[in-house]
Amino acid sequence: MEKQKIKHSWAEPYKIKMVELLKMTTLAQRKKAIAAAGYNTFLLKSEDVYIDLLTDSGTSAMSDRQWSGMMLGDEAYAGSANFYHLEETVRDVYGYKYVIPTHQGRGAENILSKTMIKKGDIIPGNMYFTTTRLHQELAGGQFHDVIIDEAHDAENQHPFKGNVDLNKLDVLVKKYGADKIPYICVAVTVNMAGGQPVAMQNMKDLRKYTKKHGIKIILDMTRVAENAFFIQQKEEGYAKHSIRSIVKEICSYTDGATMSAKKDALVNIGGFLALNDKDAYEEASNLVVVYEGLHTYGGLAGRDMEAMAIGIEESVSDAHMKARIGQVIYLGEQLRNFGIPITEPIGGHGIFLDAKRFLPHLDQDKFPAQALAAELYIDSGVRSMERGVVSAGRNPKTGKNYYPKLELVRLTIPRRVYTQAHMDVIAESVENVFVHRNKIKGLKMIHEPKYLRFFQARFAKL
Ligand code: F0G
Repeated sequence: MEKQKIKHSWAEPYKIKMVELLKMTTLAQRKKAIAAAGYNTFLLKSEDVYIDLLTDSGTSAMSDRQWSGMMLGDEAYAGSANFYHLEETVRDVYGYKYVIPTHQGRGAENILSKTMIKKGDIIPGNMYFTTTRLHQELAGGQFHDVIIDEAHDAENQHPFKGNVDLNKLDVLVKKYGADKIPYICVAVTVNMAGGQPVAMQNMKDLRKYTKKHGIKIILDMTRVAENAFFIQQKEEGYAKHSIRSIVKEICSYTDGATMSAKKDALVNIGGFLALNDKDAYEEASNLVVVYEGLHTYGGLAGRDMEAMAIGIEESVSDAHMKARIGQVIYLGEQLRNFGIPITEPIGGHGIFLDAKRFLPHLDQDKFPAQALAAELYIDSGVRSMERGVVSAGRNPKTGKNYYPKLELVRLTIPRRVYTQAHMDVIAESVENVFVHRNKIKGLKMIHEPKYLRFFQARFAKL
């Protein structure tokens, strides 16, 4: 008898209980709205957006369990029951000993940077992230990129483009000395590279190397469960491991972590700093009082911590992750089939349009990714985000623009929010813009804020 081919659909492991109605806009309204926003999608009003792919941060749909957890908020200033639930969950799922809640990821980055970085220190990382690098710099440190070269090439098919290049790290250690390097920051997955994962083997090799040199590993674990999915799918020996066990193994090779729970952990606000070292924890739990709040709430309500604890559990479910990334891949494959240049391989939290190949007639000073994001909004009300020269900002010492090799528009998919039909509409709109791409002219920047300029910069059409 012929063996039947088994199909594995990525369909959602949930059904919809409540919906949020969206406003539909006209072309004329969208043209007006984006001009008023200075051609920066961050400055649009969300009510003028149809499908919001600005970010996957804080935009997920919480489950009925998380919402019922909100009703169990123990709103005590100190020692809330929800903190202890969160602490127990972090210990159980991630394996870290100590946890300090923060209002979101950058709150944890601030505390970490202030307690661990001294002036003149070097912080290696697998590609920069905007807020992470800024906090390192504000603490007197200097970020150095040690990601493998393949990550900077949108077309390269390397399955683990987030990997750390140990030779690049070794060059830094030899040049500056290990005592100048308090820790290496490893992001899983790597946001700015296109949601690209790090291999478990790379984590193991890195642990071995850093142990020898007395350098700590701090994980940016914002999308660690998504990274675990790619290890399960692509790395030899992990096909039968659960997402949950892979997540715990990744964390086991590190000394601590910063978390933006607004991504993986399926909450609208929240984050934490996790540490294994008692002294480092004591120092951080003292400093958090200054910037966030007492160490048992860190800027969050009790109900927020409860929703986070439940969300962490849901995030490491295999069924959840299969549908989550299945949806991203579904959109990516549609675009790929139409010949749209996207970052390859398809990453965890969104599809990244390669603006350099999409708009080859625009050089980077004309902000091609920023211009493309504006055009996509005008076409259909789909809101995306620039991840190119605007996001990269300027070198604080020289004042010169960083010119990243990657000039991308991120179509970030919120978790459990949009349907397959929405993905079809997005793909059609990108295709529409692609057909008319030769008509797109660039932008000039007319207002540039000092910090994290991409959030609030304003542009005019050339
Ligand atoms: N690290 C990574 C890898 C992130 O993607 C983010 C946020 C942060 C840290 C900071 O966390 O926003 O909670 O303070 N990324 C969002 C994004 C903003 O749209 O990619 P936060």
